[in-house]
Amino acid sequence: MRPVVVTVLWGLVAMSPPVVAKPPVADRLATGSELSVDERARALSLGPWPPARRADPSNRVSGRPQAIELGRRLFRDPRMSSVGYVACVTCHQPDRAFTDTKARAHGLADLPRNTPALFDLRQQRWFGWGGSSDSLWMASIRPILDPRELDGSLATITRLFTRDEELAACYRRVFGVSPLRQPGRTAVNVGKALAAFQETLVTGRTPFDDYRDALARGDRDALAAYPAAAQRGLALFVGAAGCVRCHRGPNLSDGEFHATRGAGVVEIAAPVVSDGGRFDGARSLKQHPLNLTGRFNDDASRRNASATQRLVVNTALQGRFRTPSLRNVAVTAPYLHDGRVDDLSLALQHGAALPAPQVADLRAFLESLTDRDGERRPWSSADRLTPCP
Ligand code: HEC
Ligand code: HEC
Repeated sequence: MRPVVVTVLWGLVAMSPPVVAKPPVADRLATGSELSVDERARALSLGPWPPARRADPSNRVSGRPQAIELGRRLFRDPRMSSVGYVACVTCHQPDRAFTDTKARAHGLADLPRNTPALFDLRQQRWFGWGGSSDSLWMASIRPILDPRELDGSLATITRLFTRDEELAACYRRVFGVSPLRQPGRTAVNVGKALAAFQETLVTGRTPFDDYRDALARGDRDALAAYPAAAQRGLALFVGAAGCVRCHRGPNLSDGEFHATRGAGVVEIAAPVVSDGGRFDGARSLKQHPLNLTGRFNDDASRRNASATQRLVVNTALQGRFRTPSLRNVAVTAPYLHDGRVDDLSLALQHGAALPAPQVADLRAFLESLTDRDGERRPWSSADRLTPCP
């Protein structure tokens, strides 16, 4: 009989309502919401949104309208690929939130990782799930040359500009030299134009941002417009569930690398492919000629290279991945670096198994991080596009 009793008791424990300490009445009156004074302070740290635009000092064409337009054209141009039909847009599709709905990417061959949505990348300083690039332009050159992605080369890039005089003129206008002069330099500049374009992929304001600003203003009417479940989810996110430890700041990402499996952590499902994560990423980055310590960094001061210089590769980095931003997360399934989870309610439990009501509240909060465009994105959120010559 004994095991049955234990099972029943365990069932009761597992089903009992979550211990979500409701903030004391005085606290709630002070904030005009479901949040305590402390939780309010932490909720405010998840904004404001959108962040101020700032150019990338490592990329001298960052923010330049003509570079953005050149990058926008290159992003959907399959002619840089060896086979002539793979482009960035093959995997990063605007009408699928700049991702591809696949668990793991497939270009000319299988890749071991999920295609990330390319939003808000100016907020990051390491790129890729394992941070194998330290600039957006470096992360944009890698897929051109990767045999599993575009499988391009200096020859395919040169061929593109030889055959398309208008594109070559556009390039000359942006960089002041012919794209045929120095193919190595051209490949780097193509990455910089692609980066200038991707910097314009910024998510818009969300119901959460309106709530957060209402909290800052103390606007009780506006606070009431935010669903109660999302308010409870937010309280958990910044409080008891501890999510904000890693998913922090306005982009809901600390930009750093963490292991999400370990002692006491419930396994959602076994990883599909073994992946060194940050260990492989850091090792590759340190020795790569395109990193910020090299000669293609346009910031002569090299101040932006210090994190890469200081980076120490050791086995503690094994199996760590970059904390993803959670903006628009509801429209970017499947989840995690290997896309092994389809359901947002499961994905958000990567750190711990939570009682069902808490999962539902956290999910309501995450859904309130979706902007108006959601899954189907405009081609560019640049204010205006300058035509190429
Ligand atoms: C075959 C599908 C595929 C193609 C084609 C592709 N990508 Fe990606 N992209 C991915 C995957 C998968 C990752 C994650 C790579 C990793 O973690 O190492 C990624 C990562 C990135 C990142 C880093 C994003 C982040 O959040 O840090 C950038 C930037 C990027 N790609 C830009 C591009 C550009 C520009 C092109 C075209 C030149 C391109 N990609 C072509 C699948 C693709
Ligand atoms: C220790 C740092 C850390 C904490 C704490 C944490 N996360 Fe994460 N989160 C990550 C990392 C790292 C990943 C990516 C893991 C991977 O790809 O294998 C991730 C992935 C996710 C994803 C999937 C996003 C995507 O695009 O694939 C969601 C959703 C998520 N976290 C929500 C939460 C919620 C909700 C909490 C609190 C209950 C939380 N996280 C706590 C670091 C953390």
